[in-house]
Amino acid sequence: MSDPENTMDRKAFLTKSAVLLAGGAALANSALSYSRIAGANDRISLCHIGNGSRGEELDVIASQLKTSHNVEMTTVCDLWRVNREKAIATNAKYYGRTPRGFQYFEDVLALKDVDAVIISTPEHSHSPILKMAVEAGKDAYVEKPMGNVLAEAKAARDAVTKSGRIVQVGTQHRSEPYPRAAYELIQTGVLGDVSKVEIVWNYHGPRWRGRPESKLIREADTDWRKWLLTKPYRPFDPQMYCEFRLYKEFSSGIPDQWMSHAIDLVHWYMDDNFPRSVVANGGIYAWHDGRENADTFQALLEYPKGFLVSYSTSFGNDAPGFTRYMGKKATLFNIGGEGSPLYQLVEEKGNHEDDPDVDKQRSSKYVLLPGQTGIPPMGIDDMSTEHMANWFECLRSRQQPHCTVQTGFAHSVACIMAAQSYWSGKKLYWDAASETILDHA
Ligand SMILES: NC(=O)c1ccc[n+]([C@@H]2O[C@H](COP(=O)([O-])OP(=O)(O)OC[C@H]3O[C@@H](n4cnc5c(N)ncnc54)[C@H](O)[C@@H]3O)[C@@H](O)[C@H]2O)c1
Repeated sequence: MSDPENTMDRKAFLTKSAVLLAGGAALANSALSYSRIAGANDRISLCHIGNGSRGEELDVIASQLKTSHNVEMTTVCDLWRVNREKAIATNAKYYGRTPRGFQYFEDVLALKDVDAVIISTPEHSHSPILKMAVEAGKDAYVEKPMGNVLAEAKAARDAVTKSGRIVQVGTQHRSEPYPRAAYELIQTGVLGDVSKVEIVWNYHGPRWRGRPESKLIREADTDWRKWLLTKPYRPFDPQMYCEFRLYKEFSSGIPDQWMSHAIDLVHWYMDDNFPRSVVANGGIYAWHDGRENADTFQALLEYPKGFLVSYSTSFGNDAPGFTRYMGKKATLFNIGGEGSPLYQLVEEKGNHEDDPDVDKQRSSKYVLLPGQTGIPPMGIDDMSTEHMANWFECLRSRQQPHCTVQTGFAHSVACIMAAQSYWSGKKLYWDAASETILDHA
């Protein structure tokens, strides 16, 4: 565990080196160059807040980087005793030292020897905890969506900007090699003018019902009022606690869970961050199990640069997923659902008016990594380490990571608008100047 005094010294040093890096071309700004500066070998002391299902994955990921990036999970924090104790035990195995366990994140934020926090609580608490974390001087990795209440997401973004803390938002595909290769390809202008992006990610099953934890959890083992955080009191409900993705006060479901990943990539690839307007529809057609959120959902988002995005998910049928960026010169296909590394570029070769046989002349190629010959796989799990590694590197270099709080705010706005449009039945407009959602143009 870090020594509090030394950690404070190091923190002051990190801030100082960040100023130098920002201001001076003389200093190279990579983690490597930082590692040559005195004090850089200090271990980064982490606390993980929210040790549930995604939390277990993030613990594995962080532990895989413990030596290469010199980090240690010194502290874990979860309201629920069972998950907290599990996280203490697994992290003790990963690091060979037992981390401290806390029930309340406020107590963790008061610890001087914690440098940075990982936040993987349910989405209704992401922005409020992020805001408090940076105000307490902690750097943070926060799961997606960054927020699902506009005022809270704004407040968190403003607090991060003011604090100068290094925040990575958990849309990890931005750090993975194939999406990055696709991004580079798009930057060459190979697609021509893109007028439409179509995304279809399906799944057959009553997703997110039936979490085994719902049958395990007892109110006495957690703190329900603290779990609700900013929401009005209601009686304890174990399904709401563990299957929050199905309940609209806590999550919008498909937009918060999946569209956040999808739209984040669109924003990055198209360099257009806020929709001009959004309209969405859907319903509960496949799984009548008491859920409030749609199991079938589609949103249409229009962007200022002049293109339309269609995002669609069905939980009642597994028809293969895809994303396509449709340009005048080529189409970029991402074959498969969320996070698929399989990208294919298909030429357009002109239009049908000029040549009725144009579709027979279109060549195609896969997007490959340097030196690669085979076809990439069609799916990956959520265990890629690059995003966490990028954050760790930025903690040392004080550079901005791949998914900043600005990009997190942008995906949050798109998802909040989609959810609000679905619930209200109205087409909604983003007023960029006032950062508000309007129901008229
Ligand atoms: N990036 C990805 O690919 C990915 C994948 C899965 C989940 N996620 C995100 O991770 C988040 C968590 O999902 P999950 O399935 O792990 O949920 P979960 O319910 O399994 O875990 C959440 C944990 O947080 C704890 N918790 C809740 N409020 C707390 C608070 N105020 N202080 C301390 N602990 C608190 C709960 O007790 C629980 O143990 C979701 O918002 C989801 O969007 C991201």
